[in-house]
Amino acid sequence: MRPSFSFPYVLSSWKVFLTQRAQSTQRRKTPTRENGARGIRREKITAIRCQSSAAPSKGRHRRGSRCVPRSRGGLDGKRRSSGVKPLLQEEQSCLCYAFCMTAKILDGLKIRDEIFAELKIEVAQLAAQGVRPGLAAVLVGENPASQMYVKSKVAACEQLGMASWLHTPPANATTEYMLQLVDDLNRDDHVDGILVQLPLPGQIDSKRVLEAVSPAKDVDGFHPVSMGMLVSNRPGLVACTPAGCMEILRRNKVTVEGANAVVLGRSDIVGKPMALLLLHANATVTICHSKSRELPEIIRRADILVAAIGRAGFVQADWIKAGAAVIDVGTNKVSEAGEAERLLKNFPARLEKFRAKGSVLIGDVHPDAVSTAGALTPVPGGVGPMTITMLMSNTVKAAKQRRGVRK
Ligand code: GUN
Repeated sequence: MRPSFSFPYVLSSWKVFLTQRAQSTQRRKTPTRENGARGIRREKITAIRCQSSAAPSKGRHRRGSRCVPRSRGGLDGKRRSSGVKPLLQEEQSCLCYAFCMTAKILDGLKIRDEIFAELKIEVAQLAAQGVRPGLAAVLVGENPASQMYVKSKVAACEQLGMASWLHTPPANATTEYMLQLVDDLNRDDHVDGILVQLPLPGQIDSKRVLEAVSPAKDVDGFHPVSMGMLVSNRPGLVACTPAGCMEILRRNKVTVEGANAVVLGRSDIVGKPMALLLLHANATVTICHSKSRELPEIIRRADILVAAIGRAGFVQADWIKAGAAVIDVGTNKVSEAGEAERLLKNFPARLEKFRAKGSVLIGDVHPDAVSTAGALTPVPGGVGPMTITMLMSNTVKAAKQRRGVRK
């Protein structure tokens, strides 16, 4: 008797075949990620069902397939089981099985703790020689975000046993007032580092004020002399956020030499110094920005991506090369419900927190990038803590250089 093949029968057989093939391939090969950025831990690839409406994929992770990120410690901080978990209910799912990858989380808080422990020892050794590194912070006006940052910087000094002074000129302070204050701090021998918190109110000429800071005390690395030292790859004080990004790469053993590095953003504070640091570490560097043509294509070539463009979730998950190391410098406060829901669709725990709090911090990279990148800094808890950490490190460095301490 001839067997009859109904359409539902063929469909379900096809599904069973795909499931078994995916499972047996996994058993046979225990496939591992081909890392774009060498040096990143190789990750096991897990077969999961994805919600792409396209034809079944050929056993590979498909760009743009929207797989639920199932990390061992995901960006929303929740540990998830390592078991295979279907994304959609059975009746909703398509036939496509994708190999979904989960990025290694590049934990800035952990690195901060490591560096703080090292600095504490160094500060104690300096104290034994009669040297106490000190930071003078200048906060103009009452910008709440700046107040919070400066408070954290002063608290970090205390934590490490360093001296700190906080100067709080009023919001209507003039350029002349600021120049006088900076001059006083330049002359004060107890002060090793001067930090003028940005942004300054519009009536103050920020460039003139930053240029007035003695290069020897320029712990922010914003002075043209500091920038020039960096351009010519000489030892000096380097801007804290890019220096922190390099520490994240270094301490996670991400190979920079020979890598294609893309820096998205061209600010004096982050983009430009970041590109120079990567270049000096022998990466092939591309700087791009909001006006660059074909951004997705440029970013797709990156083994290392540093995103510093200041737009929440700007870099889409499918712009990222599989296995790339992604450093997300953005810290964007999102308060609009529609935007938060769109960005956190796959992160129910974070969405829940947003609903309770009314706002959420989102990086420049879309949170779904956790399923395409090989390694990724979380927001918050990635680059953010590194900026203060490197400020502390620069203050200790300035103290040693200025006071002629060798070690
Ligand atoms: N405002 C935002 N970031 C920074 C920084 O790194 N240093 C200073 N001084 N101001 C900032």
